[in-house]
Amino acid sequence: MNIFIIGANGFIGSHLSDTILATTDWQVNAMDLYDDKLQDALKNSRFHFHKGDMLLEKDWVAEQIKNSDVILPLVAVATPATYVQDPLRVFELDFEANLNIVRLCAEYNKRIIFPSTSEVYGMCPDSEFDEDKSHLVTGPISKERWIYSSSKQLMDRVIYAYGKHRGLKYSLFRPFNWYGPRLDNILNPKPGGSRVLTQFIGNILRGEEINLVNGGEQQRCFTYIDDGISALMRIIENKNNAAHNKIFNIGNPTENISIRRLAEILVSLISTNYPKHAANAQATKLVNIDAHMYYGEGYQDVSLRVPAIKHAKESLHWEPKVNIETGLRKTLDFYLQ
Ligand code: UGA
Repeated sequence: MNIFIIGANGFIGSHLSDTILATTDWQVNAMDLYDDKLQDALKNSRFHFHKGDMLLEKDWVAEQIKNSDVILPLVAVATPATYVQDPLRVFELDFEANLNIVRLCAEYNKRIIFPSTSEVYGMCPDSEFDEDKSHLVTGPISKERWIYSSSKQLMDRVIYAYGKHRGLKYSLFRPFNWYGPRLDNILNPKPGGSRVLTQFIGNILRGEEINLVNGGEQQRCFTYIDDGISALMRIIENKNNAAHNKIFNIGNPTENISIRRLAEILVSLISTNYPKHAANAQATKLVNIDAHMYYGEGYQDVSLRVPAIKHAKESLHWEPKVNIETGLRKTLDFYLQ
């Protein structure tokens, strides 16, 4: 099988590349602006990497799509601060640039596996988000945070329509707060410059306070990257067409914790297990901050986000295995050792 990964140097792309090369005989064509997370993959003769910009090299991208069996377009902005500060960039990259890829897949009759997101459910009040039944709930237009959710939702609808009316072969997967080694850069000191876990690790290392937005009572189901990738591998394999034209929540419903709890666990794990940083961790203060102060007026939050994973369990025979303590230890080993 020939796989084409656009944005292979990202968090998901780099882990996926490593797993494909280690466990299959597939050929991987890959593109990204950077290659720092691909140092192992680059040594493999089945990994064909092209450093470049999908926005500039459209002909080259189209050629790869023509020559591949499965396409994974993984280029996207995924940090909430950017949704508020630079919403047009989110729309242009996450929606417009990727729409071109979706259309090429439809034109060349190629299978596309597209990253949707837990964010499409927005502020849905359901206790578990169901791919078939849950309503997708966003806020008013002035709450610019929802441009990401809306861009992804529209793309889901476009892909679904291409599937139903023009024969596109697709699978949509919705990551729920995947985390692990290589997530974001912990050296980025900008508040909101990365997702919450890497933000908090960076705060502790720099001896800063941890900001709990609106008190940190909001909850997330943190999903370790290995669990996410094992689901994604089953989607790509598509045994007996198990993933054909389907949408999958990929998350860990049992590891549902508040953001405050995440901060407390990190402080405790670093205090006990990483002597070099223990003093900083013990001195870390958790302070409450108003969301508008932290992100600006355009922010609105999700208080509870739990995936229903029945689809993935039944169709892919997948379920998450890594609990939060184990996943955080592996992540901290990567960032701190
Ligand atoms: C994330 C991002 O939108 C995407 O990465 C992705 O599509 C999706 O959700 C997902 O991974 O499932 P969110 O979980 O809100 O959204 O993003 P984080 O930046 O990781 O924030 C999590 C929570 O921590 C938010 O409630 C935020 O307000 C809070 N937070 C963040 C703090 O309390 N303090 C901080 O310093 C940073």
